[in-house]
Amino acid sequence: MNFTNIEEIANYLVADGKGFLAADESTPTIGKRFDAINTESTENSRRDYRELLFRASGMNENISGVILFDETLRQSAADGTFLKEVISKTGALPGIKVDKGVSPINDSEEVLTGGLDGLEKRCSEYEDLGAKFTKWRAVMKISNDMPSQECIDANMQALANYARIVQDHNMVPIVEPEVLMDGEHSAESCYDATSKCLNSLFSNLSANEVNIKGTILKPNMILAGQDSPAQLSHSEVADLTMKCLLENVPPELPGIAFLSGGQSDIDATANLDALNKKGGNPWKLTFSYGRALQQAALKAWLGSNENTLAAQEAFSHRAEMNKLAALGKWTRDLER
Ligand code: 13P
Repeated sequence: MNFTNIEEIANYLVADGKGFLAADESTPTIGKRFDAINTESTENSRRDYRELLFRASGMNENISGVILFDETLRQSAADGTFLKEVISKTGALPGIKVDKGVSPINDSEEVLTGGLDGLEKRCSEYEDLGAKFTKWRAVMKISNDMPSQECIDANMQALANYARIVQDHNMVPIVEPEVLMDGEHSAESCYDATSKCLNSLFSNLSANEVNIKGTILKPNMILAGQDSPAQLSHSEVADLTMKCLLENVPPELPGIAFLSGGQSDIDATANLDALNKKGGNPWKLTFSYGRALQQAALKAWLGSNENTLAAQEAFSHRAEMNKLAALGKWTRDLER
């Protein structure tokens, strides 16, 4: 695929009914996922698992981009083909997570995502390696006095600095300000925190002269904390999420690809579907799911190559369901 500019890449990534597979778990995070299925995390086991996803039939027609961790972008499949080529053959573009994780702000519970040091050089290499887009994730927690405006502004400024550097290297930045669903907070608290983050993010992007038409937003949906007794219905999630986005996100942004954030597979699909059924949005609304696309596949795989087909089947099913949700055409009876 040849693109002449980042706006074309961004539009390709959010084409109707397509979304992202987030397979960019850092080595410690994929280690935790493998622990849960009693599988040792080694370079080869990580390769085998990711290769099975990238070769699943559900990649075709449903996935436009795969977010990778550094190791995977450089890794070869068992037959020697680069994994990034396995991905490209399905029509999806390879992308790369470029942040370096979080560290505490002033010994508080709040965190700032780092990775700007040396980013210019890393982007130059990733561009040469064929990455077409990148991801940077900022994380905000909700409690009585969190997130603080200081935490929000520091993280949103870092996201804007990252986005500027990435665009200078002809890649599309995915900007991910994640308000966590951990805790007992209300949906209103999530709404307020998300609204403040998006507001700060888009003013920082504008101050840095980031091209919004060549940028993709990866936000959380508006949800009550996962330990709150007052959970919202799918249609309430859609109403509040749409309102928050319409108030804060400029219409020229090509697309919004939600993170799943710890929602169940079905909730992540049903909420995206409710958003698209609602309509009235100037941007594409799609998925960029990690856990909600992979949980079922991991459980089916259990670290054994004998289960490759079952794992591919489980992943392909979720990819197909989320494609339908991105089109507002999912129904519950399509689930098994
Ligand atoms: P989840 O969908 O599991 O939240 O992961 C998405 C992601 O890429 C987080 O950065």
